[in-house]
Amino acid sequence: MEHKVTDAEFYKIFAIVSVIIIVLAIFIAIIANIFAGYSSSASENYKVEIQNNTNQRIEPSGKINLASNPTIKQEVIVASISKSETLSGENVYNTVCMSCHTSGAAGAPVIGNNNQWSDRLSKGKDVLYANAINGIGIMPAKGGVSSLSDDEIKLAVDYILSESN
Ligand code: HEC
Repeated sequence: MEHKVTDAEFYKIFAIVSVIIIVLAIFIAIIANIFAGYSSSASENYKVEIQNNTNQRIEPSGKINLASNPTIKQEVIVASISKSETLSGENVYNTVCMSCHTSGAAGAPVIGNNNQWSDRLSKGKDVLYANAINGIGIMPAKGGVSSLSDDEIKLAVDYILSESN
């Protein structure tokens, strides 16, 4: 027996299929919305993470400018002096005394200046040794590096005198 689809039946099926399609569309829209929301908040987190990593990478390795701080500079110099053996007078001079005695900073007698040093030498070498070891005027004891031995200071004084006559 042949079944003819009537108009009424057709509209009924059409309506049901339409409703299914609409429900499906709404369902897909909801899912899409959830995923879109999820991915956007994830990328927000990702951005924060990138920013943090970047901040970490561009952070200065030290926040204090060591080179411009005279106290730290002095300590750096001290740290660079190896104490396993007695340093030569020239070595001590170049690492410690030079900063003042090459330029004449703070009125330090300048190495190579014969007049200035012959004046000083007239007090006797032992006095110069003692003053270099204990400090004199603005000059700190042992040029500020107390880890140097008395002999090393004497060698440095000898070096200065030998360069200044
Ligand atoms: C911070 C700067 C400074 C440093 C570092 C320094 N000196 Fe001097 N030195 C001076 C000054 C300033 C004088 C002069 C002081 C005065 O006559 O009042 C002086 C004087 C001297 C004198 C003459 C002392 C005297 O009796 O007339 C000797 C020797 C000397 N220094 C040796 C050294 C040696 C060796 C070193 C390194 C171990 C050294 N200095 C490091 C500043 C310095």
